Amino acid sequence: MNTLLVTGGAGFIGSNFIRFVLRERPGWRIINLDKLTYAGNLENLQDVEDHPGYSFVRGDICDRALVHALLSGEHPATVTHRPNIVVNFAAESHVDRSILDASPFVETNVLGTQVLLEAARTLWLGSGSQDPQPKLFVQVSTDEVYGSIEAGSFTEDSPLQPNSPYAASKAAADLLCRAYHRTYGLPVVVTRSSNNYGPYQFPEKLIPLMVQNALEGKPLPVYGKGENVRDWLYVEDNCRAILMVIESGRPGEVYNIGGGCERRNIEVVELLCEILRAHPRTRHLTPQIQFVQDRPGHDFRYSLDSTKIQRELGWTPATPLEAGLERTVEWYLDHQDWVRRVLTSEYRDYYARVYERGWR
Ligand code: NAD
Ligand code: TYD
Repeated sequence: MNTLLVTGGAGFIGSNFIRFVLRERPGWRIINLDKLTYAGNLENLQDVEDHPGYSFVRGDICDRALVHALLSGEHPATVTHRPNIVVNFAAESHVDRSILDASPFVETNVLGTQVLLEAARTLWLGSGSQDPQPKLFVQVSTDEVYGSIEAGSFTEDSPLQPNSPYAASKAAADLLCRAYHRTYGLPVVVTRSSNNYGPYQFPEKLIPLMVQNALEGKPLPVYGKGENVRDWLYVEDNCRAILMVIESGRPGEVYNIGGGCERRNIEVVELLCEILRAHPRTRHLTPQIQFVQDRPGHDFRYSLDSTKIQRELGWTPATPLEAGLERTVEWYLDHQDWVRRVLTSEYRDYYARVYERGWR
């Protein structure tokens, strides 16, 4: 039985992952370490908060003493079961915010990852560590570390050429993972997925932002001409891939996880409008697309070659974009209370800065 230290588990992908693992792997234990930034929300895990295999610790992955205590079993949350697997989701995750202020991205994404790696190295590889359970450190990364590609797709061997402060911080963390594997032999795996979407995504990201604006009768702000291409991955498909990597991935390796659903942004927004117009609860809406000032340094296209994870672990994405978007729209329609609670005044200030004042 595995005990997982999941970081950033109160965010979008982390909360979906925790729910998925508790359902798919009864008997496994999960300790969720999350700082609860603007993007972290315990409501995302309300349905599992009393699950016997789950516990929550509020804290920062940059806090060396806390991370060490959690991994060593000196912390009350891990005293009976020491984690043998770390899955690091914790991050500042929004490109647009990284353009406004890169500092928290460097702190959490780079320094925080190093703190986790160092604790794992000390406790798993240090003298006197005789725990026979196999160990694994899973770094949850992104296709954005490769930069933009006009044609073809990135493989795991493509060079890292990040363009946004967010992508640069994630690339730095990936390289630290590589270094800890090469230098110390720490068992580390890196997953690089394409753009996720689905339930519980904070409404600053493209898909939930468009759905919410349409519901509120606000314009749908598409950057530039909407020609940029992203490869969309339904969040549960990513959760399944990460679980497969935990169980069968090879330490020291990187695995691309692409959704196989490349679309121009304008196509995605139009598809959402179609879904809303066809839905009995929203057919009265008349969503208006508005082309707005482009994001600085906006990567034109992301595209992943996922042959490796398909060949080695037998993973393929299962959710077509249309079906995934329909499910997502339905979820946001059913969870307007959740949306209202996460859209705080902090979010409204952020929104005004990007969409009304234009990146200042
Ligand atoms: P998110 O912003 O929804 O959640 C991030 C979580 O991390 C939040 O719960 C937040 O409170 C927590 N957190 C932030 N700083 C922390 C710190 N210092 N210590 C502890 N917890 C902290 O992000 P997400 O979209 O769920 O992304 C999760 C991971 O997946 C990130 O590492 C991101 O880079 C990666 N990723 C995301 C996507 C995507 O499309 N969303 C795609 C590829 C990779
Ligand atoms: P986003 O969801 O922020 O993810 P990422 O920047 O990590 O790919 O954005 C997805 C795409 O949608 C990206 O090309 C930027 C674009 N976009 C808009 O056109 N308008 C918006 O309001 C947002 C948030 C994103």
